[in-house]
Order: sequence, then C-alpha cells, then structure tokens
Amino acid sequence: MKKPKVYVTSEIPDAGLVALRPHVDLVVEPGNMPPPRQRLLEMVRDLDGLLPLLTCPIDAQVMDAAPKLKIISNYAVGFDNIDVPAATARGIPVTNTPGVLTETTADLSFTLLMAAARRITEAERFVRAGKWKIWDPKLLLGQDIWGATLGIVGMGRIGREMAKRAKGFSMRVIYTDAVRSPEAEKEYGAEYFPSLDDVLKQADFVTLHTPLLPETRGLIGEKQLKMMKPTAVLVNTSRGPVVKLDALYQALKNGTIFAAGLDVTDPEPLPANHPLLTLDNCIIVPHIASASVQTRNKMALLAASNLLAGLKGEKPTNLVNPEVWGKHRK
Ligand code: DGY
Repeated sequence: MKKPKVYVTSEIPDAGLVALRPHVDLVVEPGNMPPPRQRLLEMVRDLDGLLPLLTCPIDAQVMDAAPKLKIISNYAVGFDNIDVPAATARGIPVTNTPGVLTETTADLSFTLLMAAARRITEAERFVRAGKWKIWDPKLLLGQDIWGATLGIVGMGRIGREMAKRAKGFSMRVIYTDAVRSPEAEKEYGAEYFPSLDDVLKQADFVTLHTPLLPETRGLIGEKQLKMMKPTAVLVNTSRGPVVKLDALYQALKNGTIFAAGLDVTDPEPLPANHPLLTLDNCIIVPHIASASVQTRNKMALLAASNLLAGLKGEKPTNLVNPEVWGKHRK
C-alpha cells in the first residue's frame, strides 16, 4: 500500500524522523531555513501530512494548495504561525507540542531573569575586555532576586513552573491572566491580580508567558514600561510581538526600567545593527528557551506521534482545534 506523503519544513532532531520513516513517504527540507513560498506551495500539492516549524507560516493559501492534507503537526507549543481558523474551516486538525518543553522553557526564563538582574553578560564582557583591575564595592551592582516580587503574566504551564522556581528564592509571586489558577495559588501562594497594571506596578521582575493573540500583541509598550519600577527587570520568552521593542529600547536607555532579558524579539532574527544590541542592560538570546537536547528530542517525538495519529484517523493528543474532530478530512 502507498505510504502517506509527509513534508517537514526544515530539519528537526532525528528522533522524530526515525519515528516517522517506517510509516510515511518522508521529505525533509534540508537545513534550518523554511522553504521559499513557491516551493512550499508545490510541496503541499499531494501531501497527506505537514510538519511545520514555527519559522514556516501556514495560511489559507497553503491549505488550499493541499487538497489531501489531513493533519498539520506543528513543531512548537506556540502555533501563531498557523491560521488555525482557516484549518478548522477546511476540516484540517492542527496539533502542537505542549507539556514536554514546560520546565526547560521555565529554566531559561529564570536564567534570563537572574542574568539580567545580576548583569552577568555585561560582567563577563568586562572581564574579557581586561577591565578587571581590583575588587570594587561599587562594581557592577545588580538587583536582589531572593525575596523580590515576581510578576507572572500568563499563569499557564510555564508560568506555574516560574512560580515554583520563585518559591525556591523566597520570592513573593503575583500574577495576572484571563483565568485564575487555583493550582498556582494553592501550591505556590501566587496572588491573583485581575489587572496587568497592578502587576507591573508591584513586581520587581515581570515575566511574560502569554500566547501571541490579537489582544497580547504589543501588550508591553511605553505606557506599561512606565508603570514598572526603575529597578525592575522584564523577561520575555513568549513571542516577540508581545513587547514593543522601540519602547523597550527607550525604557532601558533612559533607566525607566533596570534591565531586560529576551529570548524572543520582533522581528526574528533581530538585525545585528538593532539599537537594543548597543545596550549593556539588555540580554538577548536567539529563541532558545526550549533548546535542550532532551526537550528538542521530545518535541520531535511528540510532533511525529501527533502527525501519525492524524494520518491514521485517530484523534491526536494535542489538538489545538478540537472542534474540527468529527468534521475532519478523512
Ligand atoms: C515553542 O514551542 O513555541 C517555542 O517558542 C519553541 O520551543
């Protein structure tokens, strides 16, 4: 019997490909760049399953070019690269990779928080530049992490892992979200604030864990940054467009806030001549929050298993449009 045809839009860890190969006719776009638009449109023409990375936008035009497509299995927990309503309208199930990257992403978020507060990258550049001459009581002073107030914006899985880590540092945890998290309140003593403004005003550290939605695009701009303390640190490992970078640049330059740690930016990649890169109080890493060997393998295995389930007509575990099930393409 002919195997279903599957396209992976750029290379993923072998674990996922090994799981797929026996069952499908597999094409993997070589390298780490998404396919040019025209190639993508050609590749999907007789496709049964698509496994895109977050770097590859999948919109209605791509779906219309793929009349046999039965499943889109995203290699990411975020799925803002996919037009999910368009997929649902066409009966195409969409899946993501939640759960397996929660702790790893929280680890990196906390790393950025600590590195920005204690000026780690700046201090390391100082040593490498041969500027370390003597122990100096006023050298490279940062902000205390222990005992400070952590403001979590978005108390989902990753937000809760941040709360857990914060407790280890004797921090007070406050949070805002559209829905309350009884688990975070009970387990970590997190205090709920309906208003983002109150979190911004009270927190010493603000960490963003929201999906990218119309209502979270530009959530942190000039007005919000001005509400924060001059000693505060902003951390973003969610999606770049949640923070307005021009406003952040001004806030960091003028001392409106103390520092920032960013894993995500808008645009991505951030151009090498971006003004933020001239600032010592901004740490920027290239969207690596889930980048551990173990987690990237787990994401590949989960994306593969969601894809295979969809091809077999079984309900995938991580459907992001469950309303499609029953009306989906067979
Ligand atoms: C995701 O999964 O959405 C992250 O941004 C990459 O791991």
